[in-house]
Amino acid sequence: MAVKEIVADIRHLSGEVYYPSPEVLERAYIKDYPSLYQRAMQDLEAFWAERAEELEWFRKWDRVLDDSNKPFYKWFVGGKINICYNAVDRHMKTWRKNKVALYWEAENGERRVLSYYDLYREVNRFANVLKALGIRKGDRVTIYMPRIPELPIAMLACARIGAIHSVVFAGFSVEALHTRIEDSKSRLVITADGGYLNGRIVETKRTVDEAVRRSPSVEHVLVVRRTRHEVPMEPGRDYFYDELARLPFAQGECPVEETDAEDPLYILYTSGTTGAPKGQVHVHGGYAVYIYTTMKWVFDIKDEDIWWCTADPGWVTGHSYIVYAPLMLGATSVMYEGAPTYPYPDRWWSIVEKYGVTVLYTTPTAIRGLMRFGDEWPNRRHLSSLRLLGTVGEPINPEAWRWYYRVIGKGRCPIMDTWWMTETGGFMITPMPCVPLKPGSATLPFPGIRADVVDENGNPCPPGVEGYLVIQNPWPGMSRTLYGDPDRYVKTYWSKYPGWFFTGDSARRDEDGYFYIIGRVDDVLKVSGYRLGTAEIESALVAHPAVAEAAAIGLPHEVKGEGIHCYVILKAGYTPSEALAEELRQHVAQLIGPIARPEAIHFVDKLPKTRSGKIMRRVLRARALGLPEGDLSTLEE
Ligand code: WT7
Repeated sequence: MAVKEIVADIRHLSGEVYYPSPEVLERAYIKDYPSLYQRAMQDLEAFWAERAEELEWFRKWDRVLDDSNKPFYKWFVGGKINICYNAVDRHMKTWRKNKVALYWEAENGERRVLSYYDLYREVNRFANVLKALGIRKGDRVTIYMPRIPELPIAMLACARIGAIHSVVFAGFSVEALHTRIEDSKSRLVITADGGYLNGRIVETKRTVDEAVRRSPSVEHVLVVRRTRHEVPMEPGRDYFYDELARLPFAQGECPVEETDAEDPLYILYTSGTTGAPKGQVHVHGGYAVYIYTTMKWVFDIKDEDIWWCTADPGWVTGHSYIVYAPLMLGATSVMYEGAPTYPYPDRWWSIVEKYGVTVLYTTPTAIRGLMRFGDEWPNRRHLSSLRLLGTVGEPINPEAWRWYYRVIGKGRCPIMDTWWMTETGGFMITPMPCVPLKPGSATLPFPGIRADVVDENGNPCPPGVEGYLVIQNPWPGMSRTLYGDPDRYVKTYWSKYPGWFFTGDSARRDEDGYFYIIGRVDDVLKVSGYRLGTAEIESALVAHPAVAEAAAIGLPHEVKGEGIHCYVILKAGYTPSEALAEELRQHVAQLIGPIARPEAIHFVDKLPKTRSGKIMRRVLRARALGLPEGDLSTLEE
């Protein structure tokens, strides 16, 4: 299979192009993308070894890449490194010790400021408590917390002692949390009494109680106090964190585990084509090198920067670019607890103004949502501190891109449209400040990444033609396996094109080689940038007593990108009604989480299926959109 090399000349491009200004170029670490790209591709191992030198290792690696057991690649084999050490301890030896690591702002305006030294002490204390609860290297710990500083602290504490964290986004509900605790066989669940969102309390502890009821692996529940409202505590199983953190065993330093480069750091569950979520496994070594390098070069992070990634730490975006990479880089970050429009639609812009945010990284859904409130809200705030913008999670439509560029960035700030996935650990197809931009395009692959758009047979698609997006070589940040299911890892990602990573996205390239991501080709939806499997939604629906069969599809939605539409066959004795439709939408939201609430429930008598009984979602989609139904040869009569 032929591999097409990257565009060589990015000085003369076609279409709507935004070239970097002299000021942007002046400041950038990387000024010449094509030659760096070429150098990286000539000797990948030398390139990554050089990057790895920027981190602190307890022991250097013997080999950069071990590909003797493909696709189970190993990076920095023989190396010893701990990501928590690089994120926190390392700064104790420099002036950054008293630099601000984190500005945290609560929805009610309350603030906390943590220096690197503060963070160091908090992480040590938390790690001591974990040890006192019997947590050891290799144990799994589920974290289900609102957006408060203790969330990153808990993650770092796990990493410090070599425990494997599995963070579940607090917007998920009981079922989703339960399956993730169950799959990882976590011994401990860390949560908070509650969180705040839109001025209301989110009952995280109560959700944990319900989820843990059927999880025999869980020995303890550790509860951080945030809201201080009354929550049930089970004696012998549940502890308040602050009560343990006061005890003598929690004081002083907790030694860092000298983890192997390939030791698992975390499991993070993502949705796939079947109901069972996939536990992506990321490791201490290669992952650290990859996210450190990508963040440094793409967002050009320097000491004076104030970085704000608006994601939740519970997603991979947060793991990589709220918690680990910014801290390894010694950056100052902002973290905001609540909703973007609370109490008014200028909350985010007020945060940019207040903390002097220099780099803002967010999602197309958020941009489209805030854009709807008009230009007056951002225009009332000083946004002049911004120098770079970013977006992630779903394709950004050119109108939203231009609004972000013009109204938020005032035409000065390049937009880094970063394409990547939970599986990839970090940015894959992304500009850097020196790369000319085109609205709606994630531009070109990061140095060290060979990517292309190919047809069924693996041949490169001509410019403008849609095909499958593939990655054609391994990289240090890649997920190593699916937790407990290596066969599924091979089958999902490495089987369609042997030797290449199958992303599950479709894309096209233009005549300059620029990549435009189109969307998922599997049964995965991107709703407000959140990844949801149709199977998860369908199994939630059929768990309702009225539902016999269900199919879920995604249809274009103005703000959310995709909205969930469900087709439901009722059991005998139930009749369609508006009330029942509302009850079903509520039911899905309760089981999976508010993000999964369907836009619409359509009651039907039949679903289009293949002769082998599989629901043909693409037929439902085509019908809903009034498009041709395509090849119907497999449709049952
Ligand atoms: C899927 C991965 C990566 C962190 C957040 C999402 C879509 C991601 C972009 C982008 C177009 C994008 C893809 C991908 N996606 N970034 N810049 N442009 N689409 O991680 O939940 O694992 O989802 O998000 O469809 O496959 P995730």
